[in-house]
Amino acid sequence: MFNYLPEQASEFAYKVDRVNQFITNTSVFFIVLICGAMLYFAFRYRKRPGETDETPRIEGNNYLEVVWTAVPAIISIYVMYIGIVTFREMRTVEPDALEVNVTAQKWKWDFEYQNGKKTTAEATIPVDKPVKFILASRDVIHSFFVPAMRVKMDAVPGMYTYVTFKPIKTGTYNIFCTEYCGTGHSAMLAKLRVVSEAEFERWLNDNSEELLKAQMSPAERGENLYNKSGCVACHSLDGSRRVGPSFLKLFGKKEALADGSEVTADENYIKESILNPNAKVVKGFPPNQMPAFEGQLTDDDISALIAFIKAQDGTRKAEEKKESKPQAEEKKVDLASLSPAERGKLLFQEMGCNACHSLDGSRLVGPSFKGLFGRNGKLTDGSSYTADEKYIKHSILEPTSQVVEGYPPAMPTFKGRLNDSQINDLIEFIKTLK
Ligand code: CUA
Repeated sequence: MFNYLPEQASEFAYKVDRVNQFITNTSVFFIVLICGAMLYFAFRYRKRPGETDETPRIEGNNYLEVVWTAVPAIISIYVMYIGIVTFREMRTVEPDALEVNVTAQKWKWDFEYQNGKKTTAEATIPVDKPVKFILASRDVIHSFFVPAMRVKMDAVPGMYTYVTFKPIKTGTYNIFCTEYCGTGHSAMLAKLRVVSEAEFERWLNDNSEELLKAQMSPAERGENLYNKSGCVACHSLDGSRRVGPSFLKLFGKKEALADGSEVTADENYIKESILNPNAKVVKGFPPNQMPAFEGQLTDDDISALIAFIKAQDGTRKAEEKKESKPQAEEKKVDLASLSPAERGKLLFQEMGCNACHSLDGSRLVGPSFKGLFGRNGKLTDGSSYTADEKYIKHSILEPTSQVVEGYPPAMPTFKGRLNDSQINDLIEFIKTLK
């Protein structure tokens, strides 16, 4: 009766839906029947002015009692029956099922095939062949959910669980984590590609990506990781300040720490900072911003990242600058012809505001710019604010003096980095974000 379920892409999907539909339809039928009768009688036999009859005392009706006990009991037993039959089918693994190991981790899904092929955030399986996903977790409880296949199972640290099904249609389907597992839970997504048997064989034995990786220098692999693992959001390569220190000329630098001591940014310091970011925070930067990468990056990955950071010694930048010079000049010419809001948008990207302030209302390190202008709210000191020109300008120049409630005082000051007309451009841009 109610057709709200997703596509049926596994062999038993329609059976699961049948149980679901039966329960839904029966429930709706009885709700309408019972509540309908209740409302009808309440209205039909309501007390009218002038009526003085007493309601007669009714002692019960054995026939009715039997009917309304037996009918729901039979329905319940039937629901249990179709439930058990379907559940048993869902949990029975075919002997020739393809086995894929799935490891859940905050916040990604890793897949490993029997021949050693590994993928992240994407699994590929052949159509019309039973498959068994063996689930494990490296940290907390996650849950592996593929709606189109009608399978869902927790991935629990310290034990193995599984789902099994036979896909009956090629296509790409969503995999969700459906157990709240922390900040990145909603982003813990993956794709399930169901392809023809021939396509699967070709894909499974194609190791060109691995070969490519093997041919890369450590620094190149590090650059890959820098972009893929999200370092890029907070650490610039050009010396500009974002949430964390820039990687430019970082290696070998003496850094003053928040506790007053000093440390040299060598291999060990960088490794420690990746695995346990709060151990030694550089002075002037907020603690508790960087997530720990313990368990997310292998020793190889960390060595590659260190090689990449070493390569940011300033020479590379000079090369890039030479190449991109004509472009930079072009931009300058353009600037004059842009509207203030358009210039503000450019600044928003160039100054790195976008690392911490979204444009779509989502929460990053700082408040979103969407609908910011004119917004009212509370500051951490309990006073209230209205986001007008004056407030925004002040927030750019002295961010920590008026922090919105619920946010960390993480923003660096832009005093001396933006002039008044640039700040006005940014404000004009923010005004356009209704
Ligand atoms: Cu993993 Cu939610």
